[in-house]
Amino acid sequence: MTRDSLFHKIFKNVFGRSEEVFEPRIREFNVKTDLEPILSWQEDLFTTNFAGFQMNPYFLKEQRRRLSEAALRPFEHGIFVLEHIPGKIGGFIWCKIYDTNEYGIFGSVEQIYLIPELRGKGFGKKLMEKGEEYFAERGAQSIKLLVTISNSAAVSLYQSLGYKATRWEMQKDVKRTQMNGG
Ligand SMILES: CC(C)(COP(=O)(O)OP(=O)(O)OC[C@H]1O[C@@H](n2cnc3c(N)ncnc32)[C@H](O)[C@@H]1OP(=O)(O)O)[C@@H](O)C(=O)NCCC(=O)NCCS
Repeated sequence: MTRDSLFHKIFKNVFGRSEEVFEPRIREFNVKTDLEPILSWQEDLFTTNFAGFQMNPYFLKEQRRRLSEAALRPFEHGIFVLEHIPGKIGGFIWCKIYDTNEYGIFGSVEQIYLIPELRGKGFGKKLMEKGEEYFAERGAQSIKLLVTISNSAAVSLYQSLGYKATRWEMQKDVKRTQMNGG
């Protein structure tokens, strides 16, 4: 810290002015500090999007493995976190690049999540814009993502950014029949 900025800080404290306000920022994922919070959000993320989803230790272990591997491959995976309080994160986006013979280079939004108190404030849009920047830098020609129709916050977010539905995943719940003549 320079003498000038130190003076500025002391001056502000002595005269009861508040410290500089911390602006929430989006930064790159750090596996050491960010992996655990992201894993702790997986249950909420999946139960919001998949009816009947039940978290179990194996699923979480697999997510830990996938995220740790992704962190080692920054060219293929862009993971960005929202630091809303110094040293504390409140959301993230996980982007992946696919380079295929069939469809060329495209981006996929693997996961996006914000803690409930940070929703509806424009941070989802900011994270998506960061993801789109990452995809553009890697030459993606399109961006794909999957979303559950009933998740209106996520659907609105994507639509507001110009995403359009291209396929429907269809499902019908069926009654179980008793086996063994029972
Ligand atoms: C989906 C999610 C990331 C959206 O982030 P967000 O910060 O709340 O969204 P934003 O505030 O940036 O809003 C983006 C747009 O969506 C709209 N929107 C946000 N929440 C909404 C809601 N609950 N209902 C309807 N529209 C909503 C906003 O009005 C805005 O549209 P506009 O730009 O036309 O005004 C967030 O709700 C979330 O983390 N949900 C749980 C995890 C999840 O479901 N992830 C998606 C998996 S596919």
